[in-house]
Amino acid sequence: MNLYRRFLILIISITTVSIAHAAGMQPERAERGMVVSVHALASEAGVEMMRAGGNAIDAAVATGFALAVVHPSAGNIGGGGFMLIRLENGKTHFLDFREKAPGKATPTMYQDSDGNVIPGLSRLGYLASGVPGSVKGLVHAQERFGKLTLAQVMAPAIRLAREGYALSWGDARSMSTNEGLAQFPDSKRIFQNDGKGWKQGDVFRQPELARTLERIVESPDDFYTGKMAREIAEFMQAGGGIITVDDLRNYEVIDRTPVRGTYRGLEIISAPPPSSGGIALIETLNILEGFDLRKAGFGSAEAIHLVTEAYRRAFYDRAQFLGDPEFSELPVLELAEKQYAVEWRKSINAKKASASARLERPKVSAALAKYVAEHPVFAPGREPTQTTHYSVVDEAGNAVAVTTTLNGGFGSKVTIGPLGFLMNNEMDDFSSKPGVPNMFGLIQGEENAIGPNKRPLSAMTPTIVLKDGKLWLVLGSPGGPTIITTVANILINVVDFDLDIQQAVNAPRFHHQWIPDQLRLERNRFSPDTIELLKSRGHDVVFGLGGDGECIQIDLETGLRLGASDGRNERGRAVGY
Ligand code: DON
Repeated sequence: MNLYRRFLILIISITTVSIAHAAGMQPERAERGMVVSVHALASEAGVEMMRAGGNAIDAAVATGFALAVVHPSAGNIGGGGFMLIRLENGKTHFLDFREKAPGKATPTMYQDSDGNVIPGLSRLGYLASGVPGSVKGLVHAQERFGKLTLAQVMAPAIRLAREGYALSWGDARSMSTNEGLAQFPDSKRIFQNDGKGWKQGDVFRQPELARTLERIVESPDDFYTGKMAREIAEFMQAGGGIITVDDLRNYEVIDRTPVRGTYRGLEIISAPPPSSGGIALIETLNILEGFDLRKAGFGSAEAIHLVTEAYRRAFYDRAQFLGDPEFSELPVLELAEKQYAVEWRKSINAKKASASARLERPKVSAALAKYVAEHPVFAPGREPTQTTHYSVVDEAGNAVAVTTTLNGGFGSKVTIGPLGFLMNNEMDDFSSKPGVPNMFGLIQGEENAIGPNKRPLSAMTPTIVLKDGKLWLVLGSPGGPTIITTVANILINVVDFDLDIQQAVNAPRFHHQWIPDQLRLERNRFSPDTIELLKSRGHDVVFGLGGDGECIQIDLETGLRLGASDGRNERGRAVGY
């Protein structure tokens, strides 16, 4: 760890009770419980709950609310997400608290009278927000599965909001320089120090947010059915938005059945629609099962090539098939079937890249063939860059994987002024017009068209892996479509190349998403020889990739919890006890 990093940690720990390891080359090891998130203070909040007798769900909810305070670009109460829970008795739950389109949303709401998409309307400002699900999701999780009181699990977040915390260099910079935040007076006042900006080490206090969190403790339904719901709706409508008190009152958390698959004898439990993540992950792994990646070797051009070809095919299917399951019949099970992968695998040439434009889907059932014929293929592109994942395991073996988002960094950039929190711009995850790319080049199909009360398609992939029936890995990351390949990269690194979880998270990553037909590599992490070999196989190699794996592995021999916060981030931390 260099001096600069030590200094940062010192600054960050001003308000913490203890100092834990920063992300490095070694996982954090602990006997009882572990919380891993992108901010040390949020991880500490979770561990504080377990020390007080709470379980992994209490810890996750405490971490989630704390992230809304200390990681305002993505941690949120004005957004949504997914919580995958595996209880120590083996039962699984997938809490879907994804945002919903407001009841007044229409397929053409971001188009002008000529049918042209109006730039920015689905991403900046009052019209860009879906109905937020985070508060209901976290409160529901705590009430249904937690052991402590809501007051206990929200106490760290309230304390951090009221007393403040020292800003890191990156936080100070990203808040102060965000041009979108500057356009909204409350956002500028709160997040940009009224235009004066922040510097590293400044203590950031959020009294309005502290009060909002206290009101949620006092009356957990207030956000959806009470005075707070009216305040939110009035504020949004005064700015030209369309979220109503009815939208908030009608918002429901859905407890879905996770998708399941296997990979080399391991059980994979992951995100079902409206996320594309679990299906695309399982399809990728099914295809890869037929290849000997271990023999090809970690970091070898051959392994990268084979994994890339699997990604290409899984993303081809993702683009066409997926959307909100409440609004269409999705061929989910067929895509996750082993035999389907066997057929896909036959089209992979180990020495030559396939051309995405000429990819032909293998023979499928009559029902799927009909579906394909009726639904034209569209291409996914790059998605925005702020979401966050956290993983928790407690002493009993309960595990929680949560990925949550405002979508873009700081969401719509609109702060509900008197309440002190940012609203999401998740409406941009829909197709503003099928076939027309959104701001990030994302083009999707009819399944993901805007409709009232519909949930936009997501790529978030909170995932749990079992070995011999026992909890082994808890995985997840931000990164739009690269979430899926980040999770797959980490999983393959552990399973096929025997890396420990920290090495697996830190290892160089690569990404392919069918279209654009490009193999995306992390910059300066692959040797020129490897890059040349990939190019000679026909890959169009481009550079620049992120992601932020916040993951846990259980050492099945000792029971130790191994926490890995991504070495790429500034102030993430695995905190164990
Ligand atoms: O739900 C989704 O897939 C996107 N809203 C996630 C965006 C994202 O991960 C940006 N993060 N870096």
